Amino acid sequence: MSTGQYNEVTEEEVSTMATATGLPGRLHHTAYVSRNLEATRHFYEDIIGLPLLATWCESDELFGAVRTYCHCFFGLADGGALAFFQFARPEDQALFGPKMPASPFHHIALKVDKATQDGIEARIAKEGIKPPRTYVLEHGYCRSLYVEDPDGMICEFTLDHPDVERINREQRGKAHQELRRWLAGDHTSNNTFR
Ligand SMILES: [Fe+2]
Repeated sequence: MSTGQYNEVTEEEVSTMATATGLPGRLHHTAYVSRNLEATRHFYEDIIGLPLLATWCESDELFGAVRTYCHCFFGLADGGALAFFQFARPEDQALFGPKMPASPFHHIALKVDKATQDGIEARIAKEGIKPPRTYVLEHGYCRSLYVEDPDGMICEFTLDHPDVERINREQRGKAHQELRRWLAGDHTSNNTFR
């Protein structure tokens, strides 16, 4: 690391620091319930491009009864994973897998480079997935491709602005102050990139 100043380090160095300073590191896995793990596998493996890394098939005493379920992990580049459960009994499926809330503000966002974003966008189009199940938003500081999975979970694939390190440094320096300002009622936009 070239400097002790948090706001002068690269993204890679920040990631190293996260571990060194005792913060949680990368995502280990998310967990959601799928109605049909083959539809989920097709979406995440064939369209998004995340390899199926593990399929755990289990019966456990969980939350007051024996639950029989399958649990699939789809790998991200850094070793993290998106994981999905499907239950054998419809009662367990209904109990643990309520429908996702229909809100674009509930989503998971994964960082991509341009080639990866382009590839996912092309495979979404080839699959015949169309708006409103997929769309692109230009946020200024990033370009985001959104797509809904077979169970209604929205995945965002985020391509950072080329100047991301400067942008993050500036945001970091004023993050608390801006939060206080907004919560106090001053809702002036501070996104100067759009
Ligand atoms: Fe987002």
